[in-house]
Amino acid sequence: MKVIGINGSPRKGWNSDILLDNALEGAAAAGAEVKKYNLFDLKYTGCLSCFACKRIDGPEYRRCALKDDLKPVIDDIMDADALIVSLPIYYGDAPGAVRNLYERLWFPPNIYSKEGKVASPMKTKVGLIYTMGAPDPKFNGNLAEKDKAIFERFFGPTEVLNVTDTYQFTDYSKYTSSMFNPEAKKKRREEVFPADCKKAYEMGERLAR
Ligand SMILES: Cc1cc2nc3c(=O)[nH]c(=O)nc-3n(C[C@H](O)[C@H](O)[C@H](O)COP(=O)(O)O)c2cc1C
Repeated sequence: MKVIGINGSPRKGWNSDILLDNALEGAAAAGAEVKKYNLFDLKYTGCLSCFACKRIDGPEYRRCALKDDLKPVIDDIMDADALIVSLPIYYGDAPGAVRNLYERLWFPPNIYSKEGKVASPMKTKVGLIYTMGAPDPKFNGNLAEKDKAIFERFFGPTEVLNVTDTYQFTDYSKYTSSMFNPEAKKKRREEVFPADCKKAYEMGERLAR
């Protein structure tokens, strides 16, 4: 059992990264071999619409032909039994770095078949962890539902963990942030975030089973 973790936040050691580490610890405790990538350490683009992945009898059929830092990550994901992506929400969507990854993960198995079939659907289980400043995921539209539907079409059963009202700065007094109550944020960080980490750990355990 191989589980790949993707940190989709530029901030190492913060919310998305901590939750991902918890999920990977859960997966490892359940016996999985785990590997983590920080997307923001890598240099890559999104899909360049070259269509090599759809070229009949082509050498890269059903695979992303682009050769950059994302190539080994995609290869690892294709080879894995489970994938966990942990990401902050930026303007109601995934950060651009995560969108670029998704384009290159989702397009190759999408063979433009009129029956709506995908090329050899995989059995990769997926866990998506969304972190957000908003107090409720509804303020960010249907992002999780949309991503989950696409992952379930091309990969496999997908579960979602929404982590809301996250702690954004170590010292709120140093930044313009009058819309937040620093005391309430600190309290939530101390009292609710540990429970979110436990949920992430349990997600990792489930995905590794
Ligand atoms: C550029 C930017 C845009 C953001 N947009 C949203 C948003 O649309 N909705 C939301 O709930 N939070 C938004 N946030 C807050 C982050 O999603 C939230 O603080 C997240 O937990 C940060 O994750 P991290 O600590 O792993 O970096 C935004 C933050 C940044 C930096």
